[in-house]
Amino acid sequence: MKNLIKKLLSFLPKDIEKKAIHIIKMIFIKEYRWMINNYWKFGQDNRKKIFFSAARYMNINRPINGYYFEFGCNEANTFRMAYNIFKNLFKLKYVAFDSFEGLPEVKDIDKMEVFYEGKLAFDESKFIKLVKKEGIKDEELIVVKGFYKNTLNQELIDKLNPTKAAVIYVDCDLYSSTVDVLKFIKHFLQPGTILIFDDWNCFYGDKNRGQKKAFYEFLNLNKDLVFEEFTTDCEAKSFIYINNKNEAQFK
Ligand SMILES: C[S@@+](CC[C@H](N)C(=O)[O-])C[C@H]1O[C@@H](n2cnc3c(N)ncnc32)[C@H](O)[C@@H]1O
Repeated sequence: MKNLIKKLLSFLPKDIEKKAIHIIKMIFIKEYRWMINNYWKFGQDNRKKIFFSAARYMNINRPINGYYFEFGCNEANTFRMAYNIFKNLFKLKYVAFDSFEGLPEVKDIDKMEVFYEGKLAFDESKFIKLVKKEGIKDEELIVVKGFYKNTLNQELIDKLNPTKAAVIYVDCDLYSSTVDVLKFIKHFLQPGTILIFDDWNCFYGDKNRGQKKAFYEFLNLNKDLVFEEFTTDCEAKSFIYINNKNEAQFK
């Protein structure tokens, strides 16, 4: 029976097949229903809490303007969430950075069962369609497609500057990707920028791996930059960029 249903569904266009499988599983598989309605929802609620925290902080400390940068956009879950919260209070420009071909080659330091080259590939045009559906306008959206080692270069820094970032969401899983991201975002920090690491506790929370390692190394290389802790949950951690202590008005 299961195989027959699978076969019948396989004749549908891929998107519709995926939706149909989801609906069937929701109706018939209790464990699947629990995963979606409880486990998945818990993760999404945590992310919503981070974006609402950022929104309240930015509104109280207004004006903080500029870009919403997201590194690791995939199916636009967090991108849409950020837009739907921030659009009510601020006029930000939304910039999506992703290969749209999934994870790059996974180096030794990033080796783990859940990470492999090409995982999380998602079509760029589908991503744009999803965010446009939320009402984002052409002039509010920039999509930078490609692997960070190629795209996060001086040319892009010059193109996006002098506007700075209000919020930076780093959701690219790997240490190696996060190193590239941090080198780049250094050029877009302004007092008050919120820097969020979605994958802070990946790699068993080991400070010698993942986003933790990348951020601690970044702080070590940039001792003049001052950050304060902001939010923490079971997966993510965020910081407020305070200033460059060599340039600060109040030292
Ligand atoms: C966990 S997913 C992001 C999920 C997304 N924020 C969401 O809510 O739907 C990680 C993403 O990071 C991207 N990524 C990781 N390393 C990258 C790199 N070095 N260059 C470009 N994209 C990268 C992958 O393509 C993937 O889409």
